[in-house]
Amino acid sequence: MSDRPGEEGDDRREGAAEDDAAARWSFETRAVRAGFERSAYGEHDEPIFLTSSFVHDSAAHAAAKFAGEADGYIYSRFGNPTVRLFEQRLASLEGAEECRATASGMAAIQAVLVSLTQAGDHIVCAQGVFGTTLQLFALFRRYDIATTFVPLADPQAWRDAIRPNTRMLFVETPSNPLTEVADLRALSSIARERGIALVVDNCFCTPALQRPLELGADIVVHSATKYLDGQGRVIGGAVLGSKRYMDETLQPVLRYGGPTLSAFNAWVLAKGLETLSVRMERHARNALAVARWLEAQPAVERVRYPWLESHPQHALARAQQRAGGAVLAFEVRGVDDAERKARAWRIVDACRLLSITANLGDAKSTITHPASTTHGRMPIETRRETGIGEGMLRVAVGLESVEDICGDLARGM
Ligand SMILES: Cc1ncc(COP(=O)(O)O)c(C=O)c1O
Repeated sequence: MSDRPGEEGDDRREGAAEDDAAARWSFETRAVRAGFERSAYGEHDEPIFLTSSFVHDSAAHAAAKFAGEADGYIYSRFGNPTVRLFEQRLASLEGAEECRATASGMAAIQAVLVSLTQAGDHIVCAQGVFGTTLQLFALFRRYDIATTFVPLADPQAWRDAIRPNTRMLFVETPSNPLTEVADLRALSSIARERGIALVVDNCFCTPALQRPLELGADIVVHSATKYLDGQGRVIGGAVLGSKRYMDETLQPVLRYGGPTLSAFNAWVLAKGLETLSVRMERHARNALAVARWLEAQPAVERVRYPWLESHPQHALARAQQRAGGAVLAFEVRGVDDAERKARAWRIVDACRLLSITANLGDAKSTITHPASTTHGRMPIETRRETGIGEGMLRVAVGLESVEDICGDLARGM
């Protein structure tokens, strides 16, 4: 959509030709260039439109815009040029027809949930997704929307959990914090057979490393707060999928519910995308080196990282991801839970470089103890079942030197 004045006729045809050329650009080029429509001022860099509303040429123009008969922005709750820049750039990278930005990753997941379900419906969700996603689905029980949790890597369990009222399969791959990998092609064929939407949280890989829509997913959600920004500056989210789903199903939820991304945050995120592939390549290279170093440490029982040959789904990860991503988890040795927890906490407390924070997706490496933070509200039996032990630590490997990161982890071992 363009609402720049004077863009009728020939200018629009030129714009369409440019769009065709842009569609042929490589991923790296689109990350830097896609979605940018220069304004009448001819600025080289993307501007920020910090305005809550937009003016109309006349009463008739206002009426036509409100009726959807004329293009043009009306109000930033449901449309803003800077937010549109981010949406178009990300859509281009994920290979999606459309993208809608949201105020956070959780707002994106909630909007999809509200858009696809009504009272009496059912969801099938992978065990071990982000803790707050579990809490959100639990909250929707009060609206009579039930969720069955299944082991992420077992397609038959997904198939068995589907009921006649199931509307959505929800998966995060690789998962947080276990880095389990879901077979997206297998899940998409199950979803297709049963006429259910497959929704994938692509936060850990980003489109630089994995494109779920190409593997058969219907909808992708993002916590843009993480690697899309990449420097821990803003909170944001996004939903990607078909134009029909966005226009007919999701748009009313966003327009009336109002989980809007601010124009400033959209600008930060759009600029973040410009460096996405360079950052993700380096994150993954660093993470693999740290994972290999951890595997050689006597204090470490096991390392979970999809690009390690020891990862149970290494072959699957290589078939659907371009690299292993930045996040790894490892378990510290100990005779019982109490000792494992004490040793894990000692490693955290000895860190001088790694930041003790549950966030990830930053240039700065972070470390967290999932059992007492992100997954602390999960009942202990479920934590045990899903493999999130007391001795487990999650590291989101940043862009510092591998030597310094390993040296910091070694301090508490
Ligand atoms: C995999 C995953 N999905 C979703 C979210 C939620 O994103 P946000 O914090 O932007 O709401 C997170 C946050 O940590 C996450 O790790």
